[in-house]
Amino acid sequence: MGGELAGAPKEVAMILRRHSHATRDETTTPAAFRAIQSAVVGMYSRHPSPSRKDKLEFASTRMELRLRFCGVSGEDYVGRDVLDAGCGTGEYSCWFASRGSRVTGIDLSDESLKEAQAYARAAGLKGIRFVKQSVLQSGFPDESFDFVYCTGVLHHTPDPFRGLTELTRLVRPGGKILVSLYNSFGFAPRELRRQLTLRLGGERLEERVHWGRRLFPFTTRRLLEGPRNDPEAALYDYFAIPHETLHSLGEVLRWFDQLGLEYVGSFAPARARDYPALVGHRAYKKVDRPLYSPILALLARLSSLSTSPEFERPGPLSRLLVQIVWLLCGIGVFCLCGRKPRVGYA
Ligand SMILES: C[S@@+](CC[C@H](N)C(=O)[O-])C[C@H]1O[C@@H](n2cnc3c(N)ncnc32)[C@H](O)[C@@H]1O
Repeated sequence: MGGELAGAPKEVAMILRRHSHATRDETTTPAAFRAIQSAVVGMYSRHPSPSRKDKLEFASTRMELRLRFCGVSGEDYVGRDVLDAGCGTGEYSCWFASRGSRVTGIDLSDESLKEAQAYARAAGLKGIRFVKQSVLQSGFPDESFDFVYCTGVLHHTPDPFRGLTELTRLVRPGGKILVSLYNSFGFAPRELRRQLTLRLGGERLEERVHWGRRLFPFTTRRLLEGPRNDPEAALYDYFAIPHETLHSLGEVLRWFDQLGLEYVGSFAPARARDYPALVGHRAYKKVDRPLYSPILALLARLSSLSTSPEFERPGPLSRLLVQIVWLLCGIGVFCLCGRKPRVGYA
C-alpha cells in the first residue's frame, strides 16, 4: 500500500477509515486485520520512526525515569536476553546493547530495521541483532527472553491484547515485560486533532500531514525538534498514522490479570502518592513537558503527606485521579510493567 491509502482497493480503504479511529480491542475480520497491519507498516517503511540521529542520547534521556518507576533495574537486563518488540529505528535496542544486554530487535518495517542496523554497526555495538518478525506472532520459542520491552507499538496493531499475549509467552518465569500504550484520557485531545486531519486530508497521508501543519503550528514545531534522518517522521506518526487505539490503566491491568502477570510499576506513576518521588528525582528536571509541569508539582505537594509502599497496584479511584491529571497535562503515553511469576504460571 506504500504508506498511502489512495490506490488501495476500495473495500480496504473503507475498512481503514472505519478502523482509523480510537476504538478499543475491536474484533476485526481477517481482511481488516491484514489491511490495518499493511497500512501501518507501509507508513513506517516510508517514514521510519523515531528516526533519531542521536539514538543513544535520545534513549538515555528517557530511560532513567521510565525504568525506575516501572520497577526495572539493571538486574533485569544487564547481561540478559532482551527483546525490543517493534523496535522501529532501534533507539532502545541500541540503548540496551550499550548497557550490556543481548538484544533482539524485531519489527515488520524493512526501512526501520535497516536504519537500526546501520546505527548499531556504526556505533560498534555488540550483542545486538535485528529480525523481521511480528509482535503478534513471532517465531521464537516460549520463554526466550528475560525482559521484553515494547513501546509505542501495540496500539498500532489490529489486536493489542493478542500482541501482549504473544509477548508474555516469550518472557521467562521471573522475567518482566514493559509495554507502553496510548492513554484514553491523556491522548483524547491528540485524537481529536488526528480525526480532524483525517476528515480534511482523506486517504492521502501527505494531505493529513499538510492539514496538521496548517492547523496545529505549535504541535508541528514541537514535533520537528531534534535531529532526525527523516525530518518528517514525527509528523506522520502524529497526524497520519492509519490506525491507533487508546487504552486506560484499568483496561491494561485487566489484561495483566488475564495473562497472570503481576503488576510491578508504571510510568508516569499510576498513583498520586508516587508523584513526590517523581518530582523529587534528580532526573526530573531534565524531562520535557508535558511531564515537567506545574500540575504534577502540585499533585506531588498534595500527596506528599500520605505514605504507603512504593508502586503498589493502583486502585480505581487513584487511576481515575491520575488519568484526569494526565488529561490536564497532556501526558498521553503510559508504560506498565509486569512480572511473570516463577511458579504457578500455566
Ligand atoms: C512508533 S514506532 C515505535 C518504535 C520504538 N518501539 C519506539 O518506542 O521508539 C512503531 C513501530 O511498530 C512497528 N510495528 C507495527 N506493527 C508491528 C507488528 N505487528 N510487529 C512488529 N512491529 C510492528 C512499526 O513498523 C514501527 O516501527
